Amino acid sequence: MTRELEQLYQEIIRCQKCILSQSRRNAVPGEGPQEAEIVFIGEAPGFHEDQQGRPFVGSAGKFLEELLASIGFGREDVYICNVIKCRPPGNREPLPKEIEACQPYLDRQLALIKPKIVVTLGRFSLSRFFPNAKISTAHGRPRKIEGIVYYPVYHPAAALHQPRWRPVVEEDFKRIPELLARIERLPDEGPRENAQQLSLF
Ligand code: URA
Repeated sequence: MTRELEQLYQEIIRCQKCILSQSRRNAVPGEGPQEAEIVFIGEAPGFHEDQQGRPFVGSAGKFLEELLASIGFGREDVYICNVIKCRPPGNREPLPKEIEACQPYLDRQLALIKPKIVVTLGRFSLSRFFPNAKISTAHGRPRKIEGIVYYPVYHPAAALHQPRWRPVVEEDFKRIPELLARIERLPDEGPRENAQQLSLF
């Protein structure tokens, strides 16, 4: 791990930029190899993540590991993190000001890891990159912007609660290896400002 990433983790662990720092047990910066080609971005730490300081270690994490295994990956092969780094009390939804306070951490993380694919898990992660997109239409549709492929899927926890989404998540995951293989050939939408206006999903 480079010194910059290590330094970023230290900043996150000590962060007090929003109210969640007062109720957390541990901040959860994220984990995985800095050279990872794929980054998975969830919503926020839950109970178990807060206890352990690691992302996706509860039931959603177990399902995420199953999904990764189904496409030949282990969790140690990819980078896993969240939009916000501290658990909202009672697992409530993150507030806009909490997402905003945490925004620079995720931006810096992505700038250091330089993934080929960013898989957004759930609607909070999707709207971090595409504020107007709807998960119901965006999921399973890759978009390449400035060299990075963004690939929205439903959140594994949502699929655990809503059985009808489970096969949808499984199918969307199955396309990831193929996406990685043909990444160079995917057309790039160009500068993010323009791409966002296109609202293509
Ligand atoms: N759900 C998330 O979005 N992130 C986690 O780390 C765990 C559950």
